[in-house]
Amino acid sequence: MNARPDSPTSPILLSQYQAPAWRVERVELEFDLAIDRTEVLSRLTLRRGDATSSLRLDGEGLELLSIALDGKALDPSAYRYADQMLEVDGAEDGSVLETRVRLDPANNTALEGLYLSGTRDTGFLLTQCEAEGFRHITYFPDRPDVLASYTVTLRADRARFPVLLAGGNPDGAGELEGGRHWARFVDPHPKPSYLFALVAGRLEKIERDYTTADSRAVTLVIWAEADAIERCHYAMDALERSMRWDEQAYGRNYDLDVFHVVATHDFNMGAMENKGLNIFNAKYLLADPDSTTDDEYRAVEAVVAHEYFHNWSGNRVTCRDWFQLSLKEGLTVFREQQFSADMNSAALKRIEDVALLRRAQFPEDAGPLAHPVRPAQYQEINNFYTATVYEKGSELVRMLAGKLGKDGFRRGMDLYFARNDGRAATLEDFLGALGEANHIDLTPYLAWYGQAGTPRIKAHGRYDANARSYTLVLKQHTAPTPGQAQKSALPIPVKLALFGQDGAMLALHLGDSEDGATERVVVLDRAEQSFVFQHVDAAPVPSLLRGFSAPAILECDYSPAELALLLRHDVDGFNRWEAGQQLAARAYDALRDNGDDVAVQAWCDALADLFERGGLDDALLADLLTPPGEIELAEREHDIDPSRIHATRQALQRRLAERLGTSELQRRYDTLAAQTNRNLDAASQAQRRLKKRVLDLWSLVDNNHALIAAAAQCAHAPTMTDRLAALSVLVRSQAPQAADALARFRQHHAGDPLAMDKWFAVQAQLPGDAVLERVQSLANDPAFTLKNPNRVNALLGSWARGNPSGFHRADGAGYRYLAERLRELDALNPQVAARLATVLNGWRRLEPVRRDAARAAIAGLAEEGTLSRNLGEIVRSMLGD
Ligand code: TRP
Ligand code: ZN
Repeated sequence: MNARPDSPTSPILLSQYQAPAWRVERVELEFDLAIDRTEVLSRLTLRRGDATSSLRLDGEGLELLSIALDGKALDPSAYRYADQMLEVDGAEDGSVLETRVRLDPANNTALEGLYLSGTRDTGFLLTQCEAEGFRHITYFPDRPDVLASYTVTLRADRARFPVLLAGGNPDGAGELEGGRHWARFVDPHPKPSYLFALVAGRLEKIERDYTTADSRAVTLVIWAEADAIERCHYAMDALERSMRWDEQAYGRNYDLDVFHVVATHDFNMGAMENKGLNIFNAKYLLADPDSTTDDEYRAVEAVVAHEYFHNWSGNRVTCRDWFQLSLKEGLTVFREQQFSADMNSAALKRIEDVALLRRAQFPEDAGPLAHPVRPAQYQEINNFYTATVYEKGSELVRMLAGKLGKDGFRRGMDLYFARNDGRAATLEDFLGALGEANHIDLTPYLAWYGQAGTPRIKAHGRYDANARSYTLVLKQHTAPTPGQAQKSALPIPVKLALFGQDGAMLALHLGDSEDGATERVVVLDRAEQSFVFQHVDAAPVPSLLRGFSAPAILECDYSPAELALLLRHDVDGFNRWEAGQQLAARAYDALRDNGDDVAVQAWCDALADLFERGGLDDALLADLLTPPGEIELAEREHDIDPSRIHATRQALQRRLAERLGTSELQRRYDTLAAQTNRNLDAASQAQRRLKKRVLDLWSLVDNNHALIAAAAQCAHAPTMTDRLAALSVLVRSQAPQAADALARFRQHHAGDPLAMDKWFAVQAQLPGDAVLERVQSLANDPAFTLKNPNRVNALLGSWARGNPSGFHRADGAGYRYLAERLRELDALNPQVAARLATVLNGWRRLEPVRRDAARAAIAGLAEEGTLSRNLGEIVRSMLGD
């Protein structure tokens, strides 16, 4: 069914965009649904575009049963199918094309198009159409700039498929002969085919009435299988909060009478914003204290919001082509980040988002898969749902929002939505509207969308005591990326402040502006610029790129003492954390290079101070006590040796734990443990976060008492957060109690796939060479399957992506094992295989022994003639072909 072109397909180019030759005004679909034999009748009302070319429709893996044009069956000579396209002669403006095709959802393991979630006997049918899944359902110009109104009729056996859902408003339902029934949905809002969706099967629901700010009565319905429906209440609350927030923050109201949300365990990505019928990976919808961690609760809230916000940023205003993907994704990630910052702690959210950017996007931007936020070409669009398009894309929107200010950004967004409602837009439309509403020319910022790579800013300060002036010299440089040798200077907003040696912020006098504010934004838009501050009484400590005002890497020649000053005194939670991260990286360097102890001591002393002093939020303290992760640390090195990075980072944490003191750690742990509860308020979450961090550190210096405490916590924890935190300590320190704790965990959660994912994931995180054998044996566990993306990511993803020292064995056995599994996985699910393969993205920067072994594994894959277009493109790009 999945055609596998064995030669590389020619790339799709942004520069070759052409408006569609044919448009579709109306789509009428009729589905006769069954597990392994579904028939789809499609009636398309066609409109001729500007061009005169013949009608060509996308279609893949479809069995054509009949075809008629304007009511007349077509002679086989009047149409032909080649290169995944159906070409039809004789169509005219206003013609109606009718096709009937047959599908086999039960055998669709790619989870794209119409497929079965769960077992043949009890599972349900659903669709995933973004980006190009609709062509697996019927023949259609499957591109986002073809907007049509949809009428969808579903028919199926009532007992097997009691619930029938499609996007849009319900428009009738009834009985049919032979125990069958039907339901119809009409979507009044024109939409591209990637937003089409249907769901059919045995599902339970929870409902809530909602009235929009413009007085529309809406029914919100969340659907899940019977065993999960009671875990949907948190998502319902999050949905209502999201809807209210979008009304208040952006003036955006919901626009249908119903809003359906469905949970599935079988999903390639996080969730999907289908118009009126969002579909979620269960991981991002189901939540209860016994099986969901605090981090996951926040992820549920964030993803519910993200998909809901797409209703405007993505659905009402969609993308002209897939090169504009960040128009909807970057913008929607940004809107979600603002929402989550409003609902929770803004500083913690910013820390979390920047950490993700550094862990996922910076490495991508520094390796062979680097691409601009708006790529210039692709072979397989599914490979471009990346951290660059999503997270860096969001950072670019944040820069624009920062430049325009709160009111200016809102004005710009209002104009953007008004102007582009019902249209398929471009990034130029977006920047144009933001700029015009504010009489600002934003076109210089377009360069950010076209240039790959993370800019490096070098900062150097010079104090002149005689002139009482402080000169800050900023330089920017972006290294070449594949296909982009020349880089230009970008407009980089650098938010900054100056601190006196007493830790107070100075009033800023920059150039002729005498406003004396303590924080300012300067825009670095050339290779090098100087900024001179007047009336400075003593050499200050600069705090730069505050709030992470641009997605750049800052290198500033701070002394450890200067960083420690910022870590102790910066009032902004994000910047305080950032100073600590930079100081920890210095301390790490010193340990690695057997350098002097100055940075290590400065870091430990400052943290010990904050730890003892009190008054800090527990969650922020937990983050401050965490050095940059192994992936971030690797980004600063050449000839990367992940096992050495792991060992050095552990040594650094041990130094911190020793400085804090075993008995102090134990005392703090006991205090926090005494507050244990299962509440979700910010203080309770923060207490769990700090407790986890303290337990981690304590276990590094006392592997007797700490492990006893961990075992007890694991056995009696009232929440998944506490249980998993303790289990993770036991597993990673190879405690004697680990096996028993794992067995109990499994017994407790055997029936819950999401909890079992954690059981797999926690074991895949065992550091060092030994984990490979564990991963191999877990892959043979009856509970493991390559057919479920969550399970694949839990085991293979947690190992290969989340556990560098366990994956990158010097003997290359890790790479070979991954390559084997990738071959198998690719035959089932190319999207998931391609995404998993990107863990090898950084192979070229490994130390020589690992580098050779990794290259051999990738090259071995590339030699296979049968790779999917998805995995094939990733593998070839990684090799640099
Ligand atoms: N648009 C989805 C989002 O909100 C992404 C997505 C969901 C997706 N399923 C997909 C992308 C399948 C590609 C393939 O981010
Ligand atoms: Zn999205």
